[in-house]
Amino acid sequence: MEWALFAEPVGYYSSRIEDVGGERSDFTTAPELSDALGRGIAHWVKDSSDGEKITVIEVGGGTGALSATVLRSLPWWTRRKLDYRIVDISHPLLERQKKKLKRYSIQWFSSLKSALTGSRDRVLIFSNELVDAFPARWFRWNGENWEEVMVVYDPAKGIAEEFRPFAEGLEEFGSDWPVGQRMERHDSYHDWLREAVECLHGKSGEWLTIDYGDRTRERIYDKRPAGTMRGYFRNQRVQGGDVYARFGQQDLTCDVTFEDLQNWGESLGLQTASLSSQREYLESQGLQDDAMAASEAGLAFLALKQVFSFEVAQDD
Ligand SMILES: C[S@@+](CC[C@H](N)C(=O)[O-])C[C@H]1O[C@@H](n2cnc3c(N)ncnc32)[C@H](O)[C@@H]1O
Repeated sequence: MEWALFAEPVGYYSSRIEDVGGERSDFTTAPELSDALGRGIAHWVKDSSDGEKITVIEVGGGTGALSATVLRSLPWWTRRKLDYRIVDISHPLLERQKKKLKRYSIQWFSSLKSALTGSRDRVLIFSNELVDAFPARWFRWNGENWEEVMVVYDPAKGIAEEFRPFAEGLEEFGSDWPVGQRMERHDSYHDWLREAVECLHGKSGEWLTIDYGDRTRERIYDKRPAGTMRGYFRNQRVQGGDVYARFGQQDLTCDVTFEDLQNWGESLGLQTASLSSQREYLESQGLQDDAMAASEAGLAFLALKQVFSFEVAQDD
C-alpha cells in the first residue's frame, strides 16, 4: 500500500494524482464540497491566536482548498500575525497548492519536523483526511488467530494474498468476530506521529485531526466482514481483489479508528480535549448553520482535538 501510494516515481500521490474533487480527480474530500470545515477551523485559529503570535500548520493540504477557506475566513488583522505553514509530500499537489494560495503568505515544508523548526512557541496543527491516506496494515481473523494479509507477486501468476500468523499486539481487536473478518490499522501513522511529537519540545498548542471513520473498531467493522479497505478510481469505489489493480493509478484508503489516534496521542503526551462528530465540532465553534449543512450532507467525520505543552528537552 505504501509503494502503491508513495513510491517514487510510480506511486499514486507521487505522480498520478492531478486533482481532488475536480473533473480529472479520482475522489473528493469534504473541503472541496463545502466551506463549513474551513470556517470552523478559522474560528478555532482566531480564538486560539487572540493577541498571540502563533504558527499554524496544515498537514496534507490536497489542492489547498481547506487552507484557502481558512485564510479567507480569518479577519486580516489575525491573518497578518500568523506564521502559516503547509506540509505535504505529493509534488503534484504541492504545485496545486502553491498556485491556489499564491496571494497568501505561506511557507511549505516536506515534513512536520522541518515545519516545526523555527516555528513559534505556540503552534496549532490540523489535518483533514490525512490519516486515511497513510498506508494501513490489513489483518484477518481465521477463527482462532489474527493473521496479517500479505501480498506476493509472481510474474507468471500475478498478485496473490498470503496470510502470515500474527500473534502480538492484536489483543485489542478481540476474538468475537466471524471467520474471515478483516480489519485495518494505521500503524504507519502511529510511527509518523511518534516522530512528529518528538519535535514538539518547547512548544505548546493544539492538534486537530479530522477524518472519516468512527470511535471504536466495533462500530466500524460491525457488519463489514471485508473491512473498509477500498480504492477510488475516477470517482468509482473499488473493493475486494480490485484494490490490487491499477498499481499507483488509483487511490487506496480505509476508515480511521479514532480510539487508536486518541490512545497513541495520549501515550505520547498529548491530552485529549474533545472527540466529536463534525457536526458537534462546528456547533462548538458557534457555526450552527454549517453544522446543519454538514449533517445534512451525511458526512461521517470525527474531529479529535488534543492539546500539548512540552518542556524543552534536557539535551536540546
Ligand atoms: C486525501 S488528501 C486530503 C487533502 C486535504 N486535506 C483535503 O481535505 O482536501 C491527503 C493529503 O495528505 C498528503 N499526505 C499524505 N501523506 C502525507 C505525509 N506523510 N505527510 C504530509 N502530507 C501527506 C497528500 O499528499 C494529500 O495532500
